[in-house]
Amino acid sequence: MNVKQLAAEKAVEYVEDGMKVGLGTGSTAYYAIRKLGERVKAGLKITAVATSQASEEQARELGIPLVAFGDIDGLDLTIDGADELDQKLQLIKGGGGALLREKIVARNSRRMVVIADESKAVDTLGKFPLPVEIVPFAWEWTLAGLTKLGCKAELRRSGDELYKTDNGNYIADCRFRAIASAPELARSLQSITGVVEHGLFIGIADLAIIAKQDGSIEIVKRESNL
Ligand code: A5P
Repeated sequence: MNVKQLAAEKAVEYVEDGMKVGLGTGSTAYYAIRKLGERVKAGLKITAVATSQASEEQARELGIPLVAFGDIDGLDLTIDGADELDQKLQLIKGGGGALLREKIVARNSRRMVVIADESKAVDTLGKFPLPVEIVPFAWEWTLAGLTKLGCKAELRRSGDELYKTDNGNYIADCRFRAIASAPELARSLQSITGVVEHGLFIGIADLAIIAKQDGSIEIVKRESNL
């Protein structure tokens, strides 16, 4: 049983004719894009934007019509994965390095659907190191600022090189172990000059589709008063 595929294909059922769709990034979003490609071939009429170069290439190869950001004023639905999610639908994203584009796209969507296998669902966020996109200039000082928030921060590497995002920035992976208050941490992260964006998604996801090894699917809706 491929649980990522199960969650992804369920999410694609929410896509309807005429929708403008945000395409996520990662191994779970991959299956959503693949399924969307099948539906487009079968006649579904949508336009899409992608959250990474990888997802854009996949969509193009599958014939999913991509549209320029300047030509639309927002999206109907974004489908994307997550590295961790809690019951309030607070997320950690950015394991694949695309968090900035993912957040821009999700924030400009009427709805965001998160797709995940059950291993991503946690009581408290933070076991997964929080990815934070930072500018390369004076990264040492920005990293020191992150460390002061109580984590062990390390620049992500790709082989022998420092990893660079699609935007030319670095990713600091911050080990907090447990994040007591995601909104508080988000505020602290935003106050550090040199931080471009962080991987905490709070009040953004509307619905989570969590697929389990036994083949069942749990759907969690965000309470609107968060
Ligand atoms: C990409 O930057 C991430 O936010 C991904 O959405 C997240 O890492 C989930 O990826 P997988 O579906 O590959 O686990």
